[in-house]
This record gives sequence, structure tokens and C-alpha cells, in this order.
Amino acid sequence: MNQNASTAGTKPAKEAKPEAMQTLELTDNEATVGQCFTDKPKMSMRNVNVFYEDKQAIHDVSVDIAKNEVIAMIGPSGCGKSTFLRSLNRMNDTVDGCRVEGKICMDGEDLYAPKLDVVELRARVGMVFQKPNPFPKSIYDNVAYGPKLHGLADSRVDLDEIVEKSLRKASLWDEVKERLHQAGTGLSGGQQQRLCIARAIAVSPEMILMDEPCSALDPIATAKIEELIEELSENFTIAIVTHSMQQAARVSHRTAYFHLGRLIEVNPTEQVFTMPAHRLTEAYITGRFG
Ligand SMILES: Nc1ncnc2c1ncn2[C@@H]1O[C@H](COP(=O)(O)OP(=O)(O)OP(=O)(O)O)[C@@H](O)[C@H]1O
Ligand SMILES: [Mg+2]
Repeated sequence: MNQNASTAGTKPAKEAKPEAMQTLELTDNEATVGQCFTDKPKMSMRNVNVFYEDKQAIHDVSVDIAKNEVIAMIGPSGCGKSTFLRSLNRMNDTVDGCRVEGKICMDGEDLYAPKLDVVELRARVGMVFQKPNPFPKSIYDNVAYGPKLHGLADSRVDLDEIVEKSLRKASLWDEVKERLHQAGTGLSGGQQQRLCIARAIAVSPEMILMDEPCSALDPIATAKIEELIEELSENFTIAIVTHSMQQAARVSHRTAYFHLGRLIEVNPTEQVFTMPAHRLTEAYITGRFG
């Protein structure tokens, strides 16, 4: 007789979960494990909660990001990676119903202080999105826009120099130097993404946030951006969200694993992928969920 036959006609009792699954559930108030804090952080977050209306998307996250570090954020879809990233340059302010609680500081300065200039902050902490989003302007003007807005160039010569330097740093100069006055939207996807990186760099940011910057790109364009991330980390601090564990392993120094809005583990990347400290991180990287 099979198992179902014995319960036929009765309402099945709530099935007990197999033991392996039970251990994967998150218990309340479980603290983040691993190396979350650094001595002189570029960015520090303490007890950060983020809500959309009454729905909480980020729960009590405390972590530091070191200067010139590349930190990768990984975790299943919907776990709060983008929400977390957007709280670092107050992009969440632009989302209706979104509210951020807790403390987020850059070099000790409270980024949520009422007097803080948010436009300036978003230049200091630039952002690159999943889908390249060049302005409907020329390649030159895409890069020159920010420096003009923030008064970073005194003359046309200065501006030309910033544009060239930014495009060079974004490894795009050689491909576009002959057509700077053509539309940015006419470039290939990978070139557009490097143009967006050049645009972010042009205002001399301190930090760059990247939300799945390679997910729309082919492997060659992806490899170029990954190389670029390594070079950029000499001058900037970078936080990158990625769905590719290989990418996280290739580009980042530390990896942060999120699960259901909680920061589960932060550790040196190699350790996260070879000896994860938390059972949920292990379950994710071994493909048991996600
Ligand atoms: N604008 C919004 N309004 C309401 N809820 C939102 C909004 N943006 C995100 N959320 C919710 O917040 C939670 C975290 O979403 P978020 O986009 O940060 O996840 P994610 O980890 O970036 O996912 P993905 O890997 O799919 O990009 C989800 O439950 C999502 O539904
Ligand atoms: Mg996201």
C-alpha cells in the first residue's frame, strides 16, 4: 500500500520538512557571520533596514566596505541585493514608498544627513546598471555631461582632457576616438556599458556601484569589463552585484551573501567559495537553491 492511500479522504497534515531543509531555514536574530568590519572603512553601514511601504526588504545589515576594495554581492533573486546597493548612494530616495533606517557613512560622513547634497553624493558614488543606459547624446557629451554639471572643467581643453582620460580608463578610447560626436546609443552593448562606466568615472567618484553590469553582455565584453574592474579598483572602491559566482570569484576581494533580505555571510571571496562559513551560503554556492 502506498503512503497516499492511508490518508485518502482526509486532509493531509502539514508535511514535515526533511531534516536537511529544516537546517536551511533562517532563525530570527541570527547575526551575519564572517569578516564584516574593517579598520578604516570607506563605507560603513550599521543596523540598516530598508522598507517598501510596510514590506521590509533589508533586515538589520551591518557591514564595512574598505577603501579600494571590490566587494561582490550575491544571493537568490529578490534577496535584496539591488535594494542594498541603492541605499549606498541614496538611489532608493527615488523609489516611491522606500524608506531607509539605520546609519550609512562614507569616510565617517552620514550619507542620510538632511543637509547632504544628494546630487553630489551620486557623483561621488556612481552607479552602473544592468542595462547600459547612455543618454541620447553623443559619445563625447555622455562623458562630458557630469563634469559640466559639477563644474569640473574650466575650459573646453579641460573638458576634452577629462573625456579622453575617462574613455581611456574605461578601455573604450581606441574604439571611439574617431567618432566622438556620434550617438552613444549607436555603440554595441558592451561598448555602451563601458561608455556608462566612463560617464561614471568622469566626475571622479570615490566609489562605483555596479548592479549586474555584465548580465546583458557576451563573454568577450564581460571579460573586458571584468579586467576593467580590476584596474579601476586601484583608484576606486567598487561594490558589484552579480548572479555569476565565477564573476564574483574573478573580480572581488570579499563576497557578501544575502538571503531573504538578511546579510548572511561576508568573507574573503576565496573562502566563501571554498569554505563557506554559513550553511545557507554553502547551500547557495552548491546550487541547492537560488
Ligand atoms: N520598487 C519596489 N517596490 C516594492 N517592492 C520592491 C521594489 N523593489 C524591490 N522590491 C522588493 O524588495 C525585495 C528585494 O528586491 P531587490 O530588487 O533588491 O532584489 P535583488 O536581490 O536585487 O533581486 P534580483 O537578483 O532579481 O535583481 C523583493 O522582495 C522585491 O520584490
Ligand atoms: Mg537586483
